[in-house]
Amino acid sequence: MKEKLLELKTKALKELESVTERSDIERLRRRYLGRKGLLTLLLKRLPELPKEERPPIGRLVNQVKEELTGRFQAVTDSLTTNDVKEVSAFDVTLPGRRTPLGHLHPITQITEEICNVFLKLGFRVVQGPEVELDYYNFEALNMPKNHPARDMQDTFYISDNVVLRTHTSPIQIRIMESKSPPVGIVAPGKVYRPDSDISHTPMFHQVEGLLVDKGVSFGDLKGTLTTFVHQMFGPDVDLRFRPSFFPFTEPSAEVDIRCVVCQGKGCRVCSYSGWLEILGSGMVDPEVFKVVGYDPESISGFAFGMGVERIAMLKFGLDDIRIFFENDIRFLRQF
Ligand code: PHE
Repeated sequence: MKEKLLELKTKALKELESVTERSDIERLRRRYLGRKGLLTLLLKRLPELPKEERPPIGRLVNQVKEELTGRFQAVTDSLTTNDVKEVSAFDVTLPGRRTPLGHLHPITQITEEICNVFLKLGFRVVQGPEVELDYYNFEALNMPKNHPARDMQDTFYISDNVVLRTHTSPIQIRIMESKSPPVGIVAPGKVYRPDSDISHTPMFHQVEGLLVDKGVSFGDLKGTLTTFVHQMFGPDVDLRFRPSFFPFTEPSAEVDIRCVVCQGKGCRVCSYSGWLEILGSGMVDPEVFKVVGYDPESISGFAFGMGVERIAMLKFGLDDIRIFFENDIRFLRQF
């Protein structure tokens, strides 16, 4: 009987070592320690023993029972704590973690919006280099060295003949050099000038436009830019063409829109004039056509250039241009 008891204990402990599932432990426990378990069966056979052997065997049975109960409990406990650990490491009831998604910078958004208006009118989008030859930035645009118009854009020189472009107009020359009329393009991009204050940053963005074909008139310029303003700011926004001067257009006009802040009544944003300047434009100067080898007698065209930040500020109601480039995520997130 004693041997049987010890054998049973060894067997139970060994089997217990190999289980990992809670349900298996419970099954084992019932097999050995349950009401109809192996140990209880042995206990029931106690009366078969000679009288004097019963007390020591009885004690041994209790000892084995206690020891096994203890072991079963310990193993169950260890599995339980493991379970808890696993649950806290991966809680299937929690919502998934989202990968933070960025979005386009407000200036990029407005640039695309501007280009899309002209794409629908049949223009193509092209680009040019930001580091530009003096020739394309000034010379070919009818601004020879020492021309007073250079003053306004006096700039970042890389060397005597290479500059950071001060406007997107050099792209006019590059595109006309590379193909013959008709030409209808818009050209977005960064430009550089040494001003820096509440309404100027040394780097800003422009969108250039150029249309050259037989019989392009100032009326086409007005119609195209009126359509643009109405698409961009709404069909009720007034605009006006104000005579101006650029060395590479003749005649030239600046386009103002009725102040979107005060509706023309006069406010700080429009310097109490009721109007806001948004772009420069004009009919391409015959001198420019000669430079690229076009015949000014048989074709004509118009060009325009607008500041993207300016338009973005008006659309979003902002009064400081510098905020676009401070990269403050709290600002950028709002667009
Ligand atoms: N390039 C001019 C500027 O930056 C704008 C312009 C473009 C004017 C095309 C006329 C025609 O001020």
